[in-house]
Amino acid sequence: EKCTAIVLAAGQGKRMKTKIQKQFLSIQGHPVLYYSLRCFQECEWMDEIILVTGQESLEYCRKEIVEKYQITKVAKIIPGGKERYDSVYQGLLACADTDYVFVHDGARPMITEDILDRAFAAVRECGACVVGVPSKDTVKVADSEGYVSETPSRELVWNVQTPQVFSYNILREAHENIRKRKMHLITDDAMVVEQEGRCKVKLVLGSYENIKITTPEDLEIADIIIKNREFRKNE
Ligand code: CTP
Ligand code: MG
Repeated sequence: EKCTAIVLAAGQGKRMKTKIQKQFLSIQGHPVLYYSLRCFQECEWMDEIILVTGQESLEYCRKEIVEKYQITKVAKIIPGGKERYDSVYQGLLACADTDYVFVHDGARPMITEDILDRAFAAVRECGACVVGVPSKDTVKVADSEGYVSETPSRELVWNVQTPQVFSYNILREAHENIRKRKMHLITDDAMVVEQEGRCKVKLVLGSYENIKITTPEDLEIADIIIKNREFRKNE
């Protein structure tokens, strides 16, 4: 069984408001993107990595990340697309026959091998899973006027993270079908498969540390988490 990680680093990072794109900002001396690549690299059963980035960042990624840190499992570095799902689709096209794809945000540096193991076990069982955590906050659904219309019970609400993991054929077919129709409001890969309705998507426990770098305070939180991990390793 072949496993491919599609690592997404082709976003503009508009909410971060920094000159350098957030996936290339430094945490504890290394770029955000490096941390998740290292985790996939060190994961024994992961076979290859497809790195998706902006046309203008292909060279930087090759030289300053993949070669510098010897992420040897990176098979291809390819340009992404306008929206996240376009970048995912480019990644899917670049996969040379694989069984499972692990779609991961390059802006999410805190994944661990434990999370990958749990996701792999789940996808083998049911073909589609997303990593996430039960919501700590109560969530309200608003109506279009900004009033509360619904309060889903908290134990049923999850915040989803990445990786989102699928049998290659399931995700590829879902993308092909959805590309034929209009695709507004697709924020994650699970939605693509959910809308197809051909496969149920299993929720797998991620970790509250598996945050996405989205706004400046996330970088400070990630910095603390990484510092603590390094400290524990050296104890
Ligand atoms: N991404 C991508 N291609 C795009 C858009 C996003 O590869 N066209 C990637 C980002 O690089 C990031 C991940 O998808 O690793 C999650 O997206 P998000 O957090 O929204 O990142 P950005 O789109 O870069 O940030 P923003 O929405 O604030 O502009
Ligand atoms: Mg975005």
